[in-house]
Amino acid sequence: MTILKGLLATAGLATALIGTPVMASDDACQLTIESNDQLQFDRDSLSVPASCDSVSLTLEHTGSMPADAMGHNWVLAATADAQALAMDGMRAGPDADYLPEGDDRVIAATEIIGGGESTRITFDTAGLAGRDLTFFCSFPGHFASMQGSFRVQE
Ligand code: CO
Repeated sequence: MTILKGLLATAGLATALIGTPVMASDDACQLTIESNDQLQFDRDSLSVPASCDSVSLTLEHTGSMPADAMGHNWVLAATADAQALAMDGMRAGPDADYLPEGDDRVIAATEIIGGGESTRITFDTAGLAGRDLTFFCSFPGHFASMQGSFRVQE
């Protein structure tokens, strides 16, 4: 019981520290996108209202192929940076989840997952409103068919 109370207290503190007017827990700030074994996302555009201070994005892989054969991630970058970043990501290799380490062009990114897996990230929207952004999968050969637009509405 003491341990449980400690955990609850810690959770409460964390909530207080990241408290903001509009949390990612608001429905409009929570996004889910699916990916499959056919090199596809199920959405070609995603957007959130400007009232979202942060976004919580869940990536699901509904296929059955393993990550080393049909891995998917969700990477967000300025549209102008996306293709070059995808190329550099390919060179970075699987141990780096196909993204250059510490690259400023990466606004947000999940890990690489395989079929039947899902992963979630939360990222701040500060400075993103109105910008032309692209999301994509950086697994080698996936950029061409696995990309879409992302907007934080102004
Ligand atoms: Co992919």
